Amino acid sequence: MQDRLQALKEEALLKIEQAESLKDLQDIKVAYLGKKGPITEVLKGMGKLSAEERPVVGAFANEIRDAITTSLQEKTERLEAQAIEAKLAQESIDVTLPGRPIAKGNAHPLTAVIEEIEDLFLSMGFTVAEGPEVETDYYNFEALNLPKGHPARDMQDSFFITDDLLLRTQTSPVQARTMEKHHGKGPVKIISPGKVYRRDDDDATHSHQFMQIEGLVVDENVRMSDLKGVLETFAKKMFGEERKIRLRPSFFPFTEPSVEMDISCFKCSGKGCSICKHTGWIEILGAGMVHPNVLEMAGFDAKKYTGFAFGMGPERIAMLKYGIDDIRHFYSNDLRFLKQFKKA
Ligand code: PHE
Repeated sequence: MQDRLQALKEEALLKIEQAESLKDLQDIKVAYLGKKGPITEVLKGMGKLSAEERPVVGAFANEIRDAITTSLQEKTERLEAQAIEAKLAQESIDVTLPGRPIAKGNAHPLTAVIEEIEDLFLSMGFTVAEGPEVETDYYNFEALNLPKGHPARDMQDSFFITDDLLLRTQTSPVQARTMEKHHGKGPVKIISPGKVYRRDDDDATHSHQFMQIEGLVVDENVRMSDLKGVLETFAKKMFGEERKIRLRPSFFPFTEPSVEMDISCFKCSGKGCSICKHTGWIEILGAGMVHPNVLEMAGFDAKKYTGFAFGMGPERIAMLKYGIDDIRHFYSNDLRFLKQFKKA
């Protein structure tokens, strides 16, 4: 009987040694120490033993049971410790791993160009003025020397809301509004960026809604040469120091004389290319000396004060600067287009 018990002990300890999971250990426990297990089975036969043998075998059986129990316990602890270690190893954080990048947006190319232009003029002492997009006929036209029925109104096909209200066709009404606020006293030195609207069919170079940046300076002794100096500084800062400018006579109802400004082509430096349409010059903006009627209507004494104004389209400037071939790209919200303007 002792041999049998000894054999069972060795068998059980070997199985415990080989066990790979807590479940295996549980099975071994039930199999060897359970009520229906072989040890219990052996002990049941103790009745047949002699009175001398019984305590010896009984003690041996207890010893074996203890040995198996201790071994099970040790192995359980070892397996549990291994499990915790494995879990820790799995969950440990590698602080040297690079983080996941957060997708950052970027300024819309048009916004970026407008801010660049604004910064440039702010550095020359201008301030930014704004006005309403739904404008009265008076500020959009009349105060700018465009009385009702004036043929030059046809230059700007308008979205009228009522007889007297329209979506502004230019940011020039901000000129008139700002001058009024100065109550006839200079200096005035503003730029006014904003949206404008015209009844154009949209195509590669036209949009029914686009942006303008207007500039206005009114003070005593403001001369055409001041206008030229400001525009030349702007052209060089925006398109490169080596740019030359050229002023051509033009017509705007609210300026006299009026000019259009060209810059020497930044692509071919005047040799002729597709951007400058082989002329060497690129048209950038309209400008002129503020018409005395406009000054007077806004409450300035035109004998004392003079001024200049200019107006440009940031879309056109952005298109030239970045080689964009269709104005509609600015307004179609195509991420493939917009993402190209991400600053590194
Ligand atoms: N507002 C004019 C336009 O839209 C541009 C301009 C502004 C011209 C100021 C001269 C002076 O055509």
